[in-house]
This record gives sequence, structure tokens and C-alpha cells, in this order.
Amino acid sequence: MMENKTVYLNGQYLPLNEAKVSVLDRGFLFGDGVYEVIPSYSGHLFHFQDHLQRLENSLAGIRLENPHSREQWLDILTPLLDARFDQYIYLQITRGVAAKRDHGFPGNTPATVFAMCSAIVPFAGLATGVKAISLDDSRWQFCNVKAITLLGNILHRQEAIDQGCAEALLVKDGYVVEGAASNVFAVIDGVLLTPPKSNDILPGITRDVILDIARNNNILCHEESIPFTVLQTADEIWVTSSTREIIPVVELDSKPVADGKPGPVWHAMNQLFQAYKHTLL
Ligand code: PDD
Repeated sequence: MMENKTVYLNGQYLPLNEAKVSVLDRGFLFGDGVYEVIPSYSGHLFHFQDHLQRLENSLAGIRLENPHSREQWLDILTPLLDARFDQYIYLQITRGVAAKRDHGFPGNTPATVFAMCSAIVPFAGLATGVKAISLDDSRWQFCNVKAITLLGNILHRQEAIDQGCAEALLVKDGYVVEGAASNVFAVIDGVLLTPPKSNDILPGITRDVILDIARNNNILCHEESIPFTVLQTADEIWVTSSTREIIPVVELDSKPVADGKPGPVWHAMNQLFQAYKHTLL
């Protein structure tokens, strides 16, 4: 049965089962919209300004005007939060409901704004690590935009699931770029590496936080392209995201990563990350 929590839709708070969008919504017809996923720990939105900055960049990337100021976004989202739990906000903005289906942008159509809040369920593979496969990245050229058009991502993720894995690591022109719904880190020759920001990856907020933590704690790290052949020899591989945090990958394409156990740098970083979260409460 569908959970009947309160959600936000176009200026109204209403039960989830009463939140309805037109079939002419451009999100439905074209996947014409962007989204954000923002964790909230004990009612505190994590790196909220960074998420809003990325939302602004995504909106600019698809030439859609931001319907709200940062203050308005905070006012809209706050009533959805419950300080007793760790949760995440899912926020979606589409180019609205046009009078007819036409690829070109409609004029003067208000955006559709939807937000809901869900529990963060601790990820089962955190302590033991997870398996991943590698796949050729078949997505589009603007992976820096957090677009709701996720067909490439979901097909890659499902391929991983079908093979008993938690994530697909995507390879483009011989370099690993990111996961189907995560960024990627690797420990190689004692250095923590993650691919640099570009159109090939979503600039993950978790990724940025990890880099800051590493720099503040003398963990040697570089933003550097990682050839897939080098990734195959890594001492540690992690995937990171707002909902799963930092997950060690212990098997890649059916071969163990190093000794097949979460590594020491992951243990250190995960502890630092959890401690950092608490400093913000
Ligand atoms: N996805 N890369 C991709 C393709 C992603 O979809 C995500 C997150 C990330 C990590 O970004 P962040 O650390 O800001 O969550 C990287 C979210 C969680 C989702 O689609 O549900």
C-alpha cells in the first residue's frame, strides 16, 4: 500500500495519493525537468546551499527559470521534514503543463514543482561492501545537469542489479567517470582519486564533502581522471551519494578489489564523514 505522507505540489501541501499531475506535463511527456536529492539529518538539511546552487546550475542548463528564491525553497521544504528521523527531500521541477505536445518550449507556462520527503534507510552493504560491474557509459553529454531524464542511468543500474551487483561503474573513452547514481573514488598507490568535474559527471555534493574532509585531515587526494585499467588495480573503490553516503566496492566485474574487504582509507573516511555530519547538527 502506498504510504500516504504529506507532499508539496505547486503551492499546496497534500496527501501523496491526492498529488496529481497532468498527462500533458512536460516531465511526463519529455522528461523535461531537473531534480535534487537533499539529505536531512535530525531535521537539518545537509549542505542546503550547495544543493540549491546545483539546482540553479541544472535549471540554467535546461534554460528553465528558477521559480523560487533560496529563502522560498527553505520555507517550502521545511514543513516536510521530521526532526526525529534522517530523511531526504526529493525535489523536482518540470517545464510545466503545455497546451499541446510540442518539442519546443511552451511560452508562459508555470513550472511544475513537486517535493516529498522519505526516510533514509541505512544501506545494507555499508559494513561489508558491495559488488559492482563496469559498463560503457551510454548516457547523454550533459551529465552535470541533474535531469529527471534518467533512462540511461536506470538501464545501467538495472544491468548491475540483474548481475547481483549494487552499482554499475560507467566507463567513457577508457576512463571511469561515475556510477549509475553515484560518484566514484579509488585509492591508488596511497592516493585518494576521483575524476574531475566535467560534463561527464554529476558534481556530487557528497563528493565535494569527502574531498574537503580529506584535505582537512591530511588524506592525500587528487581530482584526476582514472583509466579503467588503473581502476582494476585499485586498493580501494568507493561509490558515494546523498542517500547511500560512502559505500566500499569490494568486487568489480567478479574480481575482488584488493583483499575483497572494505579498506582502511574507507574506514577512516566513513568515520570522519559521520563525525562531520554530527558537527552540523
Ligand atoms: N543521485 N552521480 C549521479 C549520476 C547521481 O545520480 C548521484 C546521486 C550522484 C551523487 O550525487 P550526490 O552526492 O549529490 O547525491 C552522482 C541521487 C541520490 C538520486 O538520483 O537519487
